[in-house]
Amino acid sequence: EFHEHPKQVAFSFNGPLGHYDKAQLQRGFQVFSEVCAACHSLKFVSFRDLADLGYNEAEVKAIAKNWKIKTPDIDPKTGEMAGRVPVPSDKFPKPFANNVAAAAANNNAIPPDLSLMTKARHDGSNYVYSLLTGYQAQPAELLQKFPDVKTPAGLHYNPYFANLNLAMAPPLTAEGQVTYGEGQPKPTVDQMAQDVAAFLTWTAEPKMENRKSAGIAVLFFLLVATALAYMSYRNVWAETK
Ligand code: HEM
Repeated sequence: EFHEHPKQVAFSFNGPLGHYDKAQLQRGFQVFSEVCAACHSLKFVSFRDLADLGYNEAEVKAIAKNWKIKTPDIDPKTGEMAGRVPVPSDKFPKPFANNVAAAAANNNAIPPDLSLMTKARHDGSNYVYSLLTGYQAQPAELLQKFPDVKTPAGLHYNPYFANLNLAMAPPLTAEGQVTYGEGQPKPTVDQMAQDVAAFLTWTAEPKMENRKSAGIAVLFFLLVATALAYMSYRNVWAETK
């Protein structure tokens, strides 16, 4: 009873005629890169896929330069793990060397890959938005009813998370955490959360628009085929009394 259903956002891609808003996907990608990528990977998305968001080849290469693909070799000059600039076919790299390092850095929880998150969770686009904007103090009635469920130190109460306490601290906390380009909406926490939820919907379903327009074409075809079938039925039986 304390676990809540996601809040409903009026996304541009809702409904049978929905389309992605490319400017929003770009903003969402910016939020992902500047905030979420510190802990989360996108192992099914490659840099060249960003062409879908409206970036050209040169822009994709410029974006890739901000990232590093970890390689197992040690740089002889620094003794650090060497890295290389991603090529467009590389996937977005994992921020941690392995799960042990990931868990060690995150209070023993491993930040999941976000590529398919909006599909893995019920009502996923709304869920991601709701989770990011849903952090709050634990309700007093909850503690009265179940004193044992007090949020443990290092975890954070969020009624949209299935077991109510999660290891991720609120990642979006202040307006202007990300600077949007000219002509874009104000980067409020709410706006950034919607934008990154839209972006993660695209990563999980990059071909959604094709799927929807194919559905419309199928319905139109069936309508025409039904009309033709009915007309030929009338024609075939026209002489029969
Ligand atoms: C879990 C999104 C930033 C650490 C999650 C989950 C989502 C998510 C959707 C999964 C919740 C579930 O399992 O249902 C995001 C987004 C971010 C972001 C969109 C950026 C806006 C971060 C950052 C960190 C982080 C910066 C680390 C400092 C974690 C951890 C978990 C998690 C440790 C696992 C929580 C648990 O299972 O208790 N995140 N995250 N996240 N995230 Fe993030």
